[in-house]
Amino acid sequence: MRYTIETHDLTKRFAIQKGFADFLRHPFRKDEMSAVYDVNLNVKSGELFGILGPNGAGKTTLIKMLCTLILPSVGTAHVNGYDISKNGGNVRRSIGFVTSDERSFYWRLTGRHNLRFFAALHNYYSDDAEERIDELLSLVGMEDRGDDKFLSYSAGMKQRMAIARGLLNDPAVLFMDEPTRTLDPGAAQNVRTFVKEHITGDGGKTVFLSTHHLPEAEELCDRIAIINEGRIVVVGTLDELKAGLDKPDPGLGDVFMHYTGKEFERGTAPNHGYQGRKGMMGGGRHGGMRF
Ligand SMILES: Nc1ncnc2c1ncn2[C@@H]1O[C@H](COP(=O)(O)OP(=O)(O)OP(=O)(O)O)[C@@H](O)[C@H]1O
Ligand SMILES: [Mg+2]
Repeated sequence: MRYTIETHDLTKRFAIQKGFADFLRHPFRKDEMSAVYDVNLNVKSGELFGILGPNGAGKTTLIKMLCTLILPSVGTAHVNGYDISKNGGNVRRSIGFVTSDERSFYWRLTGRHNLRFFAALHNYYSDDAEERIDELLSLVGMEDRGDDKFLSYSAGMKQRMAIARGLLNDPAVLFMDEPTRTLDPGAAQNVRTFVKEHITGDGGKTVFLSTHHLPEAEELCDRIAIINEGRIVVVGTLDELKAGLDKPDPGLGDVFMHYTGKEFERGTAPNHGYQGRKGMMGGGRHGGMRF
């Protein structure tokens, strides 16, 4: 296995929900749009790989396919050497997934009880689980709050617990979908420092991270892919991306504008690109963190 993550023409199409009038006019016509189209990416072991793109570009859909939460329509990918379509169980056992849209914790249980529950799903029980949970609570700086109810946590603390949960099975690859979206700037900075120092740094894990935040991508990522309307438009290190522009001393914002045609701030406004993509068919631990 040369790469930890390899995608091969990975494509995901969704059916477009029709309005009632449209349904009456064309009851049997099935319109589809490609949320992710023909994606070919390779991510090396230990790399912190960032995927950047405007709202609706396909970042979450791509991550969901790589985590085996949804199946591709065309193409496939290998994660840790396992085919996401054929060896979903092995893929899931070797990865962790952290999202900012956290709705799956049990708010009336304590943080520790939540981790115990999710540890059981990974077949960790009793002493092994308690040891791992203590280690993770300390890793994310929540050792003093682990026995408080989840509903009493701040957004930053909830996000710490989400990261702890993502690391329960000691995954080789951690997928993070906009992990700092709900955090204030200080808390977000602490997450970034933590990811860099303890997850990729001394943790040795591969991280596949989506973000809307240019400074985050600049600070963290070894390589960055920009995705626009389902297609990867460029991949490279920050220096390579900047060197591709015919402009003195460009920033990542200029690169983003060049490849997506959108100002970054405007690019984050909802733009689901339905029209352009409609019908695109398959032819194509240790330090603890404070935030
Ligand atoms: N289950 C679904 N059914 C139909 N369309 C979907 C579904 N999930 C996503 N889409 C569409 O696929 C496209 C890509 O969505 P996705 O959530 O992957 O974008 P994103 O880059 O993560 O955006 P954001 O930055 O807003 O999180 C969007 O047009 C979205 O409306
Ligand atoms: Mg998303």
